Amino acid sequence: YPIEQLAVNCDFLETCYLLLNGELPNAQEKSEFDSLVMRHNMVHEQLHFFLRGFRRDAHPMAVLTGLVGALSAFYHDSTDVSNPHHRHVSAIRLIAKMPTLVAMAHKYTKGQPYMYPQNDLSYTGNFLRMMFATPCEDYKVNDVVERALDRILILHADHEQNASTSTVRLCGSSGTNPFAAIAAGVACLWGPSHGGANEAALNMLEHLQANGGVAKVGEFMEQVKDKNSSVRLMGFGHRVYKNYDPRAKLMQETTKEVLMALGLENDPLFKLAMELERIALEDQYFVDRKLYPNVDFYSGIVQRAIGIPTSLFTAIFALARTVGWIAQWNEMLSDPDYKIGRPRQLYVGSSRRDVPKMDAR
Ligand code: CMC
Repeated sequence: YPIEQLAVNCDFLETCYLLLNGELPNAQEKSEFDSLVMRHNMVHEQLHFFLRGFRRDAHPMAVLTGLVGALSAFYHDSTDVSNPHHRHVSAIRLIAKMPTLVAMAHKYTKGQPYMYPQNDLSYTGNFLRMMFATPCEDYKVNDVVERALDRILILHADHEQNASTSTVRLCGSSGTNPFAAIAAGVACLWGPSHGGANEAALNMLEHLQANGGVAKVGEFMEQVKDKNSSVRLMGFGHRVYKNYDPRAKLMQETTKEVLMALGLENDPLFKLAMELERIALEDQYFVDRKLYPNVDFYSGIVQRAIGIPTSLFTAIFALARTVGWIAQWNEMLSDPDYKIGRPRQLYVGSSRRDVPKMDAR
């Protein structure tokens, strides 16, 4: 299905169902799947104490890597990875608990109480509430924001053999605990060339805005193109998309919708991003190298407008990508020919030699 159609016609949980089952759900299947996921969204109460071991200023991805890995110490009844039912239970648990863990990491940083999930809300509405509500007053989910965040989740749900997915497959190929395999994916996603790009892109825009804004775009672009500078235009370029990242187009539209709905249509960072995109698309350096905006160029602006702190962007990506990781892990383990992964290595060092005694080295 074209991603444009999924993003417009389906919600995130339908996309999850599709990735896990290969087919979109009908109305009854959707309702059963939604309620199954929503009934697994609480985490073991002991995890609250585990979280308290972290420094409050720890990066959310460090916390999330730890929390997801720690799930393997709490759910022992579904870890036989050769059993399809156990794999299904693990998949549902992971999809259901990720929003709770990300919101807990956020609340912990802020020093606010954790909000327990509320099951009469949608998956994304519940996540927003766990993120932004406090026990002191009612919280009303904003429809436009809910839809925008849901769309961000759909756009990030899966993407063939990217670095984190390959990591999950390789890690999972040893037959390790499902939560441990997904924690490896979270760790890999953190890097700025992968999931960390949305955080890096927004930091780049904020830095540029603070240092002259649109007037300094030309100078900044010269640095980006300078081979000796190591500055990259974050949120641009993709290993696979060499024409345009279809997700970026949808993200740009979503950004406009959210900014309008929140009365932020004159957001200077959005204007700056549009200007950078305009200049880059006309610049020979970018044209020659087929560099276009990727999904992360605009997603940071939407998330910032919603009130999500920059340091949490990659954690939201991890939340969304969990279904892709787990679907690929499941596909690998259900293959009767599956074997432990072992990438080949081309050795280019010395030929065989004897170990000399210490005083002869
Ligand atoms: N800004 C400036 N120059 C760039 C950029 C960029 N963002 N991306 C690539 N180039 C240049 C690079 O210097 C090289 O030039 P030359 O041929 O003169 O040496 C050429 O384009 C090819 O680059 P590459 O690094 O070989 O391309 P790649 O396919 O290995 O890298 C990439 C893909 C996404 C890692 C890279 O484009 C990049 O670092 N982009 C910025 C980070 C980013 O936005 N990452 C998010 C990717 S989408 C979300 C996800 O899937 O995680």
